[in-house]
Amino acid sequence: MAVDVLLGLQWGDEGKGKIVDYLAPQYDLICRFQGGPNAGHTLIFDDKKFVLHTIPSGIFREGLINLIGNGVVIDPITLRAEIEEIKAAGVDPDGRLLVSKKAHLILPTHRLLDQASELSKGKNKIGSTLRGIGPTYMDKTGRNGLRVGDILESGFERKYNELKDKHLGLLKIYPEFSYDLQKAEAEWMESLDILRSLEAVDCAYYLNDALAQGKEILAEGAQGSMLDINFGTYPFVTSSTTLSAGVCIGLGLAPATIREVIGIAKAYCTRVGSGPFPTELHDEDGERLRKEGKEFGATTGRPRRCGWIDIPQLKYTIMLSGVTQLALTKIDVLDIFETIKVATKYKMPTGQETDQLPFDLNDNNCVPILEDHAGWQQSLHDATDFDTLPATAKNYILALEAHLGTPITYVSNGPERSRLIERT
Ligand code: GDP
Ligand code: IMO
Ligand code: MG
Repeated sequence: MAVDVLLGLQWGDEGKGKIVDYLAPQYDLICRFQGGPNAGHTLIFDDKKFVLHTIPSGIFREGLINLIGNGVVIDPITLRAEIEEIKAAGVDPDGRLLVSKKAHLILPTHRLLDQASELSKGKNKIGSTLRGIGPTYMDKTGRNGLRVGDILESGFERKYNELKDKHLGLLKIYPEFSYDLQKAEAEWMESLDILRSLEAVDCAYYLNDALAQGKEILAEGAQGSMLDINFGTYPFVTSSTTLSAGVCIGLGLAPATIREVIGIAKAYCTRVGSGPFPTELHDEDGERLRKEGKEFGATTGRPRRCGWIDIPQLKYTIMLSGVTQLALTKIDVLDIFETIKVATKYKMPTGQETDQLPFDLNDNNCVPILEDHAGWQQSLHDATDFDTLPATAKNYILALEAHLGTPITYVSNGPERSRLIERT
Protein backbone atom coordinates (compact mmCIF):
# COMPACT_ATOMS: atom_id res chain seq x y z
CA MET A 1 0.00 0.00 0.00
CA ALA A 2 2.81 2.40 0.81
CA VAL A 3 6.53 2.91 1.03
CA ASP A 4 8.42 3.37 4.28
CA VAL A 5 12.00 4.55 4.18
CA LEU A 6 14.82 3.72 6.53
CA LEU A 7 17.96 5.81 6.23
CA GLY A 8 21.09 6.84 8.13
CA LEU A 9 21.12 10.35 9.61
CA GLN A 10 24.85 10.66 10.33
CA TRP A 11 27.94 9.67 8.31
CA GLY A 12 26.93 6.03 7.74
CA ASP A 13 27.19 2.81 9.75
CA GLU A 14 24.31 3.76 12.04
CA GLY A 15 23.09 0.15 12.12
CA LYS A 16 20.78 0.24 9.08
CA GLY A 17 21.34 -3.44 8.26
CA LYS A 18 20.33 -4.57 11.72
CA ILE A 19 17.14 -2.48 11.82
CA VAL A 20 16.06 -3.40 8.26
CA ASP A 21 16.56 -7.09 9.08
CA TYR A 22 14.42 -6.60 12.22
CA LEU A 23 11.62 -4.70 10.47
CA ALA A 24 11.61 -6.72 7.24
CA PRO A 25 8.81 -9.20 8.18
CA GLN A 26 6.36 -6.26 8.23
CA TYR A 27 6.93 -5.75 4.50
CA ASP A 28 6.56 -7.57 1.17
CA LEU A 29 9.53 -5.96 -0.53
CA ILE A 30 12.85 -4.55 0.68
CA CYS A 31 14.57 -2.29 -1.84
CA ARG A 32 18.00 -0.67 -1.99
CA PHE A 33 17.69 2.66 -3.81
CA GLN A 34 21.22 4.12 -4.02
CA GLY A 35 24.89 3.53 -3.34
CA GLY A 36 26.74 0.35 -4.08
CA PRO A 37 29.35 -1.89 -2.50
CA ASN A 38 30.77 1.06 -0.57
CA ALA A 39 28.02 0.04 1.88
CA GLY A 40 28.59 -2.61 4.54
CA HIS A 41 25.41 -3.56 6.42
CA THR A 42 25.89 -5.98 9.30
CA LEU A 43 23.24 -8.50 10.35
CA ILE A 44 23.65 -10.77 13.36
CA PHE A 45 21.19 -13.52 14.24
CA ASP A 46 21.34 -17.15 15.42
CA ASP A 47 25.02 -16.61 16.31
CA LYS A 48 25.82 -15.86 12.67
CA LYS A 49 27.12 -12.62 11.20
CA PHE A 50 26.65 -11.38 7.63
CA VAL A 51 27.87 -8.19 6.00
CA LEU A 52 25.81 -7.20 2.96
CA HIS A 53 27.15 -4.71 0.41
CA THR A 54 24.66 -4.78 -2.47
CA ILE A 55 21.91 -7.18 -1.44
CA PRO A 56 19.09 -5.62 0.63
CA SER A 57 19.01 -6.57 4.30
CA GLY A 58 15.67 -8.41 4.09
CA ILE A 59 17.21 -11.36 2.27
CA PHE A 60 17.31 -13.65 5.31
CA ARG A 61 13.59 -13.23 6.01
CA GLU A 62 11.53 -15.88 4.24
CA GLY A 63 8.91 -14.98 1.68
CA LEU A 64 10.13 -11.45 0.97
CA ILE A 65 11.30 -10.01 -2.30
CA ASN A 66 14.56 -8.04 -2.18
CA LEU A 67 15.14 -5.62 -5.01
CA ILE A 68 18.31 -3.82 -6.08
CA GLY A 69 16.91 -0.59 -7.52
CA ASN A 70 17.94 1.51 -10.51
CA GLY A 71 19.72 4.05 -8.31
CA VAL A 72 22.21 1.43 -7.12
CA VAL A 73 25.58 0.83 -8.78
CA ILE A 74 26.50 -2.85 -8.96
CA ASP A 75 29.87 -4.53 -9.03
CA PRO A 76 29.14 -8.05 -10.37
CA ILE A 77 32.21 -9.43 -8.57
CA THR A 78 31.03 -8.28 -5.14
CA LEU A 79 27.46 -9.33 -5.92
CA ARG A 80 28.59 -12.83 -6.88
CA ALA A 81 30.55 -13.21 -3.64
CA GLU A 82 27.52 -12.05 -1.65
CA ILE A 83 25.19 -14.43 -3.47
CA GLU A 84 27.57 -17.31 -2.79
CA GLU A 85 27.60 -16.37 0.87
CA ILE A 86 23.81 -16.26 1.23
CA LYS A 87 23.48 -19.52 -0.71
CA ALA A 88 25.95 -21.17 1.66
CA ALA A 89 23.68 -20.00 4.47
CA GLY A 90 20.74 -21.76 2.84
CA VAL A 91 19.05 -18.80 1.09
CA ASP A 92 17.99 -19.43 -2.50
CA PRO A 93 18.03 -16.07 -4.30
CA ASP A 94 15.91 -17.44 -7.14
CA GLY A 95 12.76 -15.32 -7.31
CA ARG A 96 13.73 -13.57 -4.04
CA LEU A 97 16.46 -11.29 -5.31
CA LEU A 98 15.55 -9.04 -8.23
CA VAL A 99 17.58 -6.39 -9.96
CA SER A 100 16.58 -3.30 -11.91
CA LYS A 101 17.56 -3.32 -15.58
CA LYS A 102 18.45 0.34 -15.16
CA ALA A 103 20.99 -0.12 -12.35
CA HIS A 104 24.47 0.91 -13.50
CA LEU A 105 27.48 -1.40 -13.57
CA ILE A 106 30.79 -0.77 -11.86
CA LEU A 107 33.52 -1.81 -14.31
CA PRO A 108 37.00 -2.93 -13.20
CA THR A 109 38.31 0.28 -14.75
CA HIS A 110 35.94 2.36 -12.57
CA ARG A 111 37.70 0.90 -9.56
CA LEU A 112 41.08 1.76 -11.06
CA LEU A 113 39.98 5.34 -11.74
CA ASP A 114 38.75 5.66 -8.14
CA GLN A 115 42.09 4.42 -6.82
CA ALA A 116 44.16 6.61 -9.16
CA SER A 117 42.09 9.70 -8.36
CA GLU A 118 42.41 9.17 -4.60
CA LEU A 119 46.14 8.56 -4.87
CA SER A 120 46.62 11.76 -6.84
CA LYS A 121 44.79 13.80 -4.18
CA GLY A 122 47.36 12.91 -1.50
CA LYS A 123 46.46 14.53 1.81
CA ASN A 124 43.20 15.85 0.36
CA LYS A 125 41.82 12.44 -0.47
CA ILE A 126 38.12 11.78 0.21
CA GLY A 127 38.91 8.53 1.98
CA SER A 128 36.79 6.65 -0.55
CA THR A 129 36.14 2.94 -0.08
CA LEU A 130 37.81 2.60 -3.51
CA ARG A 131 34.92 0.53 -4.84
CA GLY A 132 34.59 2.64 -8.00
CA ILE A 133 31.49 4.47 -6.80
CA GLY A 134 32.42 8.02 -7.87
CA PRO A 135 33.60 7.13 -11.40
CA THR A 136 30.50 4.95 -12.00
CA TYR A 137 28.08 7.72 -11.03
CA MET A 138 30.19 10.13 -13.14
CA ASP A 139 29.64 7.90 -16.15
CA LYS A 140 25.95 7.69 -15.31
CA THR A 141 25.48 11.47 -15.26
CA GLY A 142 27.95 11.84 -18.12
CA ARG A 143 25.70 9.51 -20.12
CA ASN A 144 28.38 6.93 -20.79
CA GLY A 145 27.44 4.21 -18.32
CA LEU A 146 26.54 0.56 -18.81
CA ARG A 147 23.43 -0.84 -17.20
CA VAL A 148 22.22 -4.28 -16.15
CA GLY A 149 19.85 -4.28 -19.14
CA ASP A 150 22.84 -3.91 -21.47
CA ILE A 151 24.32 -7.27 -20.48
CA LEU A 152 21.14 -8.95 -21.68
CA GLU A 153 21.38 -7.35 -25.15
CA SER A 154 23.63 -8.07 -28.10
CA GLY A 155 26.41 -5.53 -28.60
CA PHE A 156 27.31 -5.57 -24.92
CA GLU A 157 30.95 -6.47 -25.52
CA ARG A 158 31.37 -3.58 -27.95
CA LYS A 159 29.87 -1.12 -25.47
CA TYR A 160 32.06 -2.53 -22.69
CA ASN A 161 35.22 -2.19 -24.76
CA GLU A 162 34.38 1.37 -25.79
CA LEU A 163 33.93 2.42 -22.19
CA LYS A 164 37.00 0.51 -21.03
CA ASP A 165 39.12 2.21 -23.72
CA LYS A 166 37.83 5.58 -22.61
CA HIS A 167 38.85 4.75 -19.04
CA LEU A 168 42.29 3.54 -20.11
CA GLY A 169 42.76 6.89 -21.84
CA LEU A 170 41.74 8.70 -18.64
CA LEU A 171 44.13 6.62 -16.55
CA LYS A 172 47.00 8.07 -18.58
CA ILE A 173 46.62 11.32 -16.64
CA TYR A 174 47.88 9.40 -13.60
CA PRO A 175 51.31 8.24 -14.87
CA GLU A 176 52.42 7.28 -11.36
CA PHE A 177 49.52 4.81 -11.03
CA SER A 178 50.29 1.27 -12.14
CA TYR A 179 47.71 -1.46 -12.49
CA ASP A 180 47.01 -4.93 -13.76
CA LEU A 181 43.57 -5.13 -15.32
CA GLN A 182 43.67 -8.63 -16.78
CA LYS A 183 42.77 -10.69 -13.71
CA ALA A 184 40.02 -8.35 -12.50
CA GLU A 185 38.55 -8.14 -15.98
CA ALA A 186 38.39 -11.93 -16.37
CA GLU A 187 36.73 -12.25 -12.97
CA TRP A 188 34.28 -9.47 -13.81
CA MET A 189 33.25 -11.11 -17.09
CA GLU A 190 32.72 -14.44 -15.31
CA SER A 191 30.63 -12.77 -12.61
CA LEU A 192 28.18 -11.43 -15.19
CA ASP A 193 26.66 -14.91 -15.41
CA ILE A 194 25.23 -14.70 -11.94
CA LEU A 195 23.85 -11.24 -12.65
CA ARG A 196 22.22 -12.62 -15.81
CA SER A 197 20.67 -15.39 -13.73
CA LEU A 198 18.76 -12.93 -11.54
CA GLU A 199 15.32 -11.71 -12.56
CA ALA A 200 15.85 -8.27 -14.11
CA VAL A 201 12.85 -5.96 -13.90
CA ASP A 202 11.74 -2.49 -14.83
CA CYS A 203 11.84 -1.28 -11.27
CA ALA A 204 9.33 1.57 -11.66
CA TYR A 205 6.57 -0.56 -13.22
CA TYR A 206 7.32 -3.46 -10.92
CA LEU A 207 7.08 -1.44 -7.72
CA ASN A 208 4.11 0.68 -8.76
CA ASP A 209 2.23 -2.53 -9.69
CA ALA A 210 3.18 -3.97 -6.31
CA LEU A 211 1.74 -0.89 -4.58
CA ALA A 212 -1.45 -1.16 -6.63
CA GLN A 213 -1.75 -4.75 -5.39
CA GLY A 214 -1.58 -3.53 -1.79
CA LYS A 215 2.02 -4.53 -1.10
CA GLU A 216 4.16 -2.88 1.57
CA ILE A 217 7.63 -1.66 0.61
CA LEU A 218 10.62 -0.76 2.77
CA ALA A 219 13.31 1.32 1.04
CA GLU A 220 16.74 0.73 2.62
CA GLY A 221 19.21 3.58 2.52
CA ALA A 222 22.96 3.17 2.29
CA GLN A 223 25.64 5.54 3.60
CA GLY A 224 24.30 8.42 5.69
CA SER A 225 22.64 11.78 5.13
CA MET A 226 25.87 13.71 5.82
CA LEU A 227 27.47 11.82 2.90
CA ASP A 228 24.73 13.01 0.51
CA ILE A 229 26.09 14.45 -2.74
CA ASN A 230 24.02 17.66 -2.50
CA PHE A 231 23.65 18.35 1.22
CA GLY A 232 26.52 16.46 2.84
CA THR A 233 29.98 17.69 3.79
CA TYR A 234 31.00 18.24 0.15
CA PRO A 235 33.46 17.23 -1.30
CA PHE A 236 33.88 14.63 1.47
CA VAL A 237 30.73 12.80 0.47
CA THR A 238 29.65 9.89 -1.66
CA SER A 239 28.19 10.31 -5.17
CA SER A 240 24.52 9.51 -4.63
CA THR A 241 21.41 10.98 -3.02
CA THR A 242 21.27 9.33 0.39
CA LEU A 243 18.19 11.30 1.53
CA SER A 244 14.53 10.26 1.26
CA ALA A 245 14.42 12.14 -2.07
CA GLY A 246 16.74 9.42 -3.39
CA VAL A 247 13.97 6.85 -2.99
CA CYS A 248 11.92 8.45 -5.76
CA ILE A 249 14.70 8.62 -8.31
CA GLY A 250 16.34 5.38 -7.19
CA LEU A 251 13.23 3.23 -7.42
CA GLY A 252 10.80 5.07 -9.69
CA LEU A 253 8.30 5.87 -6.94
CA ALA A 254 6.45 9.17 -6.64
CA PRO A 255 6.90 11.32 -3.49
CA ALA A 256 3.29 10.80 -2.39
CA THR A 257 3.85 7.03 -2.09
CA ILE A 258 6.17 7.61 0.89
CA ARG A 259 4.55 7.14 4.31
CA GLU A 260 6.99 6.85 7.23
CA VAL A 261 10.61 7.99 7.10
CA ILE A 262 12.56 6.21 9.82
CA GLY A 263 15.87 7.92 10.50
CA ILE A 264 18.64 6.00 12.26
CA ALA A 265 21.27 7.57 14.47
CA LYS A 266 23.83 6.11 16.81
CA ALA A 267 23.59 7.26 20.43
CA TYR A 268 26.96 8.90 19.67
CA CYS A 269 28.52 9.59 16.27
CA THR A 270 31.13 8.10 13.94
CA ARG A 271 32.68 8.83 10.59
CA VAL A 272 35.05 6.84 8.39
CA GLY A 273 37.16 8.58 5.77
CA SER A 274 38.15 12.24 5.56
CA GLY A 275 36.15 15.40 6.09
CA PRO A 276 34.73 17.59 8.85
CA PHE A 277 33.26 16.06 12.00
CA PRO A 278 32.52 18.78 14.59
CA THR A 279 32.07 16.54 17.66
CA GLU A 280 35.01 14.23 16.92
CA LEU A 281 36.97 13.21 20.02
CA HIS A 282 40.74 12.88 19.88
CA ASP A 283 40.99 11.83 23.51
CA GLU A 284 40.48 8.80 25.70
CA ASP A 285 36.67 9.02 25.40
CA GLY A 286 37.01 8.69 21.62
CA GLU A 287 39.14 5.58 22.10
CA ARG A 288 36.62 4.13 24.53
CA LEU A 289 33.78 4.67 22.06
CA ARG A 290 35.82 2.97 19.31
CA LYS A 291 36.70 0.03 21.51
CA GLU A 292 33.27 -0.49 23.12
CA GLY A 293 31.43 0.12 19.84
CA LYS A 294 33.86 -2.04 17.82
CA GLU A 295 34.06 0.89 15.46
CA PHE A 296 35.96 -0.55 12.53
CA GLY A 297 34.58 -0.31 8.99
CA ALA A 298 32.38 -3.21 7.83
CA THR A 299 33.64 -2.78 4.24
CA THR A 300 37.24 -1.63 4.60
CA GLY A 301 38.13 -2.50 8.22
CA ARG A 302 39.37 1.07 8.78
CA PRO A 303 39.06 2.46 12.33
CA ARG A 304 36.08 4.80 12.50
CA ARG A 305 36.46 8.28 13.93
CA CYS A 306 34.27 8.67 17.04
CA GLY A 307 32.58 11.57 18.83
CA TRP A 308 29.48 12.68 20.73
CA ILE A 309 26.02 12.92 19.24
CA ASP A 310 25.42 16.20 17.42
CA ILE A 311 21.96 17.78 17.66
CA PRO A 312 22.36 20.55 15.00
CA GLN A 313 23.66 17.89 12.58
CA LEU A 314 20.73 15.57 13.30
CA LYS A 315 18.14 18.36 13.13
CA TYR A 316 19.51 19.22 9.68
CA THR A 317 19.25 15.67 8.33
CA ILE A 318 15.84 15.10 9.94
CA MET A 319 14.68 18.23 8.11
CA LEU A 320 16.20 17.18 4.78
CA SER A 321 14.41 13.83 4.67
CA GLY A 322 11.20 14.67 6.52
CA VAL A 323 12.00 12.05 9.16
CA THR A 324 8.85 10.98 11.04
CA GLN A 325 10.42 8.66 13.64
CA LEU A 326 13.83 7.72 14.92
CA ALA A 327 15.75 4.55 15.70
CA LEU A 328 18.53 5.18 18.22
CA THR A 329 21.23 2.51 18.02
CA LYS A 330 24.21 1.34 20.05
CA ILE A 331 22.89 2.78 23.33
CA ASP A 332 24.71 -0.09 25.10
CA VAL A 333 28.06 1.30 23.95
CA LEU A 334 27.52 4.20 26.37
CA ASP A 335 27.09 1.81 29.33
CA ILE A 336 30.63 2.47 30.60
CA PHE A 337 30.53 6.27 30.61
CA GLU A 338 30.18 8.29 33.78
CA THR A 339 29.21 11.37 31.79
CA ILE A 340 27.78 11.44 28.27
CA LYS A 341 27.95 14.61 26.24
CA VAL A 342 25.54 15.99 23.66
CA ALA A 343 26.36 18.85 21.29
CA THR A 344 23.34 21.15 21.38
CA LYS A 345 24.67 24.13 19.41
CA TYR A 346 27.80 25.43 17.69
CA LYS A 347 29.79 28.50 18.64
CA MET A 348 30.81 30.45 15.54
CA PRO A 349 34.09 32.44 15.17
CA THR A 350 32.06 35.62 15.83
CA GLY A 351 31.03 34.23 19.23
CA GLN A 352 27.47 33.76 18.03
CA GLU A 353 25.70 30.52 18.89
CA THR A 354 23.72 28.66 16.27
CA ASP A 355 21.96 25.39 15.71
CA GLN A 356 22.34 25.63 11.94
CA LEU A 357 25.16 24.04 9.98
CA PRO A 358 27.38 26.63 8.25
CA PHE A 359 28.52 26.29 4.62
CA ASP A 360 31.89 24.97 5.76
CA LEU A 361 31.80 22.69 8.79
CA ASN A 362 35.47 23.13 9.64
CA ASP A 363 36.87 23.18 13.19
CA ASN A 364 36.85 26.98 13.50
CA ASN A 365 33.30 27.40 12.30
CA CYS A 366 31.82 24.68 14.42
CA VAL A 367 32.97 24.53 18.00
CA PRO A 368 30.31 22.35 19.62
CA ILE A 369 28.61 23.50 22.81
CA LEU A 370 28.28 20.39 24.94
CA GLU A 371 25.62 19.46 27.46
CA ASP A 372 26.46 16.88 30.16
CA HIS A 373 24.26 13.90 30.93
CA ALA A 374 24.79 11.43 33.77
CA GLY A 375 25.64 7.95 32.53
CA TRP A 376 23.95 4.80 33.87
CA GLN A 377 27.11 2.72 34.28
CA GLN A 378 25.40 -0.62 34.04
CA SER A 379 24.75 -3.00 31.19
CA LEU A 380 21.69 -2.34 29.02
CA HIS A 381 22.42 -5.38 26.91
CA ASP A 382 19.56 -7.47 28.32
CA ALA A 383 16.96 -4.71 28.52
CA THR A 384 13.71 -5.42 26.65
CA ASP A 385 11.44 -2.68 27.88
CA PHE A 386 11.88 1.10 27.88
CA ASP A 387 10.08 1.61 31.19
CA THR A 388 12.48 -0.65 33.09
CA LEU A 389 15.63 1.11 31.83
CA PRO A 390 17.64 2.97 34.49
CA ALA A 391 16.31 6.52 34.97
CA THR A 392 19.56 8.03 33.65
CA ALA A 393 19.27 6.05 30.39
CA LYS A 394 15.62 7.07 29.98
CA ASN A 395 16.54 10.70 30.67
CA TYR A 396 19.25 10.60 28.00
CA ILE A 397 16.88 9.17 25.38
CA LEU A 398 14.06 11.57 26.33
CA ALA A 399 16.46 14.55 26.22
CA LEU A 400 17.51 13.59 22.68
CA GLU A 401 13.89 13.20 21.68
CA ALA A 402 13.06 16.65 23.08
CA HIS A 403 16.04 18.27 21.30
CA LEU A 404 15.16 16.62 18.01
CA GLY A 405 11.39 17.08 18.18
CA THR A 406 10.90 13.63 16.67
CA PRO A 407 9.77 10.43 18.43
CA ILE A 408 12.39 7.79 19.14
CA THR A 409 10.41 4.63 18.44
CA TYR A 410 13.24 2.08 18.51
CA VAL A 411 16.22 1.82 20.83
CA SER A 412 18.84 -0.73 19.86
CA ASN A 413 20.85 -2.21 22.71
CA GLY A 414 23.07 -4.78 21.05
CA PRO A 415 24.18 -5.93 17.60
CA GLU A 416 21.96 -9.01 17.54
CA ARG A 417 18.57 -8.98 15.82
CA SER A 418 16.78 -9.60 19.12
CA ARG A 419 18.29 -6.63 20.99
CA LEU A 420 15.75 -3.98 20.19
CA ILE A 421 13.42 -2.04 22.45
CA GLU A 422 10.25 -0.89 20.72
CA ARG A 423 8.51 2.19 22.05
CA THR A 424 4.93 2.58 21.03
P1 GDP B 1 25.12 0.04 8.63
O1 GDP B 1 26.10 0.30 7.55
O2 GDP B 1 24.32 1.25 8.98
O3 GDP B 1 24.24 -1.16 8.37
O4 GDP B 1 25.97 -0.29 9.95
P2 GDP B 1 27.28 -1.23 10.02
O5 GDP B 1 26.86 -2.64 9.96
O6 GDP B 1 28.34 -0.78 9.09
O7 GDP B 1 27.83 -0.84 11.46
C1 GDP B 1 27.05 -0.98 12.61
C2 GDP B 1 27.83 -1.89 13.58
O8 GDP B 1 27.24 -1.81 14.85
C3 GDP B 1 27.78 -3.36 13.19
O9 GDP B 1 28.94 -3.99 13.64
C4 GDP B 1 26.56 -3.87 13.96
O10 GDP B 1 26.64 -5.28 14.24
C5 GDP B 1 26.68 -3.07 15.22
N1 GDP B 1 25.42 -2.73 15.90
C6 GDP B 1 24.21 -2.40 15.37
N2 GDP B 1 23.34 -2.05 16.34
C7 GDP B 1 24.01 -2.16 17.51
C8 GDP B 1 23.67 -1.90 18.88
O11 GDP B 1 22.57 -1.48 19.20
N3 GDP B 1 24.65 -2.11 19.82
C9 GDP B 1 25.90 -2.56 19.48
N4 GDP B 1 26.79 -2.72 20.45
N5 GDP B 1 26.26 -2.80 18.21
C10 GDP B 1 25.32 -2.58 17.23
P1 IMO C 1 27.09 2.23 4.94
O1 IMO C 1 25.94 1.98 4.01
C1 IMO C 1 30.36 4.85 6.16
C2 IMO C 1 32.35 7.14 3.00
C3 IMO C 1 33.78 6.76 2.70
C4 IMO C 1 34.32 8.08 2.21
C5 IMO C 1 33.12 8.67 1.44
C6 IMO C 1 33.17 8.42 -0.05
O2 IMO C 1 27.78 1.01 5.42
O3 IMO C 1 26.67 3.16 6.04
P2 IMO C 1 32.89 6.32 -1.64
O4 IMO C 1 33.40 4.92 -1.55
O5 IMO C 1 31.39 6.41 -1.65
O6 IMO C 1 33.52 7.08 -2.75
O7 IMO C 1 33.39 7.04 -0.29
O8 IMO C 1 31.99 8.04 1.99
N1 IMO C 1 31.40 6.01 2.93
C7 IMO C 1 30.86 5.41 4.00
N2 IMO C 1 31.08 5.62 5.32
N3 IMO C 1 29.45 3.94 5.76
C8 IMO C 1 29.19 3.76 4.45
O9 IMO C 1 28.18 2.98 4.01
C9 IMO C 1 29.94 4.48 3.49
N4 IMO C 1 29.97 4.52 2.14
C10 IMO C 1 30.86 5.46 1.82
O10 IMO C 1 34.45 6.29 3.85
O11 IMO C 1 34.58 8.92 3.30
MG1 MG D 1 28.18 0.15 7.22
